[in-house]
Amino acid sequence: MTLLSVSGLDVHHGQLRAVSGFDISVEEGQTIGVIGANGAGKSTLLRTIAGILIPSAGTISIDGVDVTRMSAHQRVRHGVGLVPEGRRLFPSLTVEENLLSGAYLRKEGPWSLDAVFDLFPWMPERRAQSSAHLSGGEQQSVAIGRALMTNPRMLLIDELSLGLAPVVVRRMYEALPRIVANGCSILLVEQDVSQALAVADHVHCLLEGRTVLSGRPTDLGRADIETAYFGIDAPAEAG
Ligand SMILES: Nc1ncnc2c1ncn2[C@@H]1O[C@H](COP(=O)(O)OP(=O)(O)OP(=O)(O)O)[C@@H](O)[C@H]1O
Ligand SMILES: [Mg+2]
Repeated sequence: MTLLSVSGLDVHHGQLRAVSGFDISVEEGQTIGVIGANGAGKSTLLRTIAGILIPSAGTISIDGVDVTRMSAHQRVRHGVGLVPEGRRLFPSLTVEENLLSGAYLRKEGPWSLDAVFDLFPWMPERRAQSSAHLSGGEQQSVAIGRALMTNPRMLLIDELSLGLAPVVVRRMYEALPRIVANGCSILLVEQDVSQALAVADHVHCLLEGRTVLSGRPTDLGRADIETAYFGIDAPAEAG
């Protein structure tokens, strides 16, 4: 069953076409990676699927419903959840208040405050703490929890590993299978290509807003990925 279907998507920032002719189809339970260098259009793509940006062409459907003209709020009700680049917590609110800020549009589903606390066991003890004093990994966990509180069917994660130490990145990635097991598909943007290749069922590589390579990680060669990522032919390996 196709959960997210995007077809012919163009998104402009003024004169700049940041996403061009993007197509994707995400099945229930899949984890899809979107990789690409700085400025490739990854955040523009996720923000458009979430309804924050308006596309200049193309359609977006969730679970067979065309949401292209719906507001971001309406899309939350149709099951779209966004973990934005840079976490964007409310620094003046506590951990729990940040989580609950995602809950006012909530649908029925498996996620609740207790379920999020179960996923991130450090949280309950520190629920009353200001989110301004959290580490980067803790902030990312709260941002994920806040999105989960809406009970998304399609979770969009923009740069899960950005600015986090390797051990923390590993912990973040360990949470993903449990999210998928609760009936959610994931569209994951990463600059850390090896992370994306390790978890994704399918990867799309964006270059200047276009998909220049896509496939299952096991079918993609390293040289092809480097070429697609940087837009230049990777130097031949010595020897
Ligand atoms: N609000 C905006 N106004 C004007 N141009 C923008 C805006 N947001 C992004 N852009 C431009 O659109 C292009 C795509 O940006 P986007 O942020 O989507 O890329 P990205 O792949 O997420 O990059 P990064 O890896 O740095 O997060 C870039 O050229 C960027 O400068
Ligand atoms: Mg970005």
